[in-house]
Amino acid sequence: MDQFMYNVNYNIQDHNMCAFEMKALFDIELDDKVFFTNKEVDPSISPFLKNRIKIIYKKKTFHEILDLITADDFRANDFMVKYVGMYNRDPNINQGKKLSKEIGLRIYGYPSFQSPKIMLGITSYQGYWYFGYLKQNNYEWRAHKQKPYSFSSALGVNMAKVLINVASRGEPSKRLIDACCGVGTVLLEGVFAGYDICGWEINPRIARLARLNLDHYQYKAKIVTGDMKEIKEQVDAVIVDLPYNNFSRFDEEQQLDIIRHAKQIADRMIIVTSTDIREQLCTEQLKIIDYCRAEKTVKGDFARYIWICEN
Ligand SMILES: C[S@@+](CC[C@H](N)C(=O)[O-])C[C@H]1O[C@@H](n2cnc3c(N)ncnc32)[C@H](O)[C@@H]1O
Repeated sequence: MDQFMYNVNYNIQDHNMCAFEMKALFDIELDDKVFFTNKEVDPSISPFLKNRIKIIYKKKTFHEILDLITADDFRANDFMVKYVGMYNRDPNINQGKKLSKEIGLRIYGYPSFQSPKIMLGITSYQGYWYFGYLKQNNYEWRAHKQKPYSFSSALGVNMAKVLINVASRGEPSKRLIDACCGVGTVLLEGVFAGYDICGWEINPRIARLARLNLDHYQYKAKIVTGDMKEIKEQVDAVIVDLPYNNFSRFDEEQQLDIIRHAKQIADRMIIVTSTDIREQLCTEQLKIIDYCRAEKTVKGDFARYIWICEN
């Protein structure tokens, strides 16, 4: 049996990006908002993951779960039990409080309703009941939406988190570079998730704003003011949100130059573009591992492409 149960939620226009992120993180094709896996990640690293239950018991009925808790003399202190609705219109959600209380009464130890140290979750899904340790997305990263400095071509927080996760595949030991970091949107999410990440930005004025944004949250990351073509170090993955101005020929050449240098920095490249550059990537002999067309609005009138490439 898989150890972990997760659920995701997203706005309709973000479906592609969510499936793309889950594939990179868990190697799954997302066909339901609930899934099971043996891989443990903190839901707060993702804009879409909501809950994770580390399964202790899986049974056909709620009463069997209650009986197991008693039979095993399940103990916990400073704990709280929560009923977690894993999917829309879960019929048990209305009696969630009652169910959590029944579980809590069977656990040997002191509950805590203010600042629990142990969160326990109970839920039902497709004919089974699940009980286990609960970890929820803390959504603290939403504070980054109010970063003090931004500009029109800055990415949204959701996409920035996805870039970090597809670059690292959720492995915290990976070393990352954001080669065209702008005002540091991606760096904020990298530091938040605990990565060793460094940013490069050619425009000194913009690099300064990126530093101020990081300082605002008291985050530490190295930001180099300079041309990414001068990057000498090797890292596990490089993220490149390609600069674009007016889609001129010059733009295209400049972008290709950046892509060519990104190949020297890392074997795994996450490239963000506003157009479909599949052909250019193939010409550069890059292997496209996966890609996603992320819609900016519900109408889908401005999209960005995220390309996962390997040398
Ligand atoms: C599309 S913006 C990146 C936006 C960024 N992801 C954000 O959310 O703030 C591209 C950035 O790359 C920078 N840039 C352009 N050429 C560069 C180069 N050769 N080396 C480093 N940065 C470069 C531009 O100044 C611009 O800030």
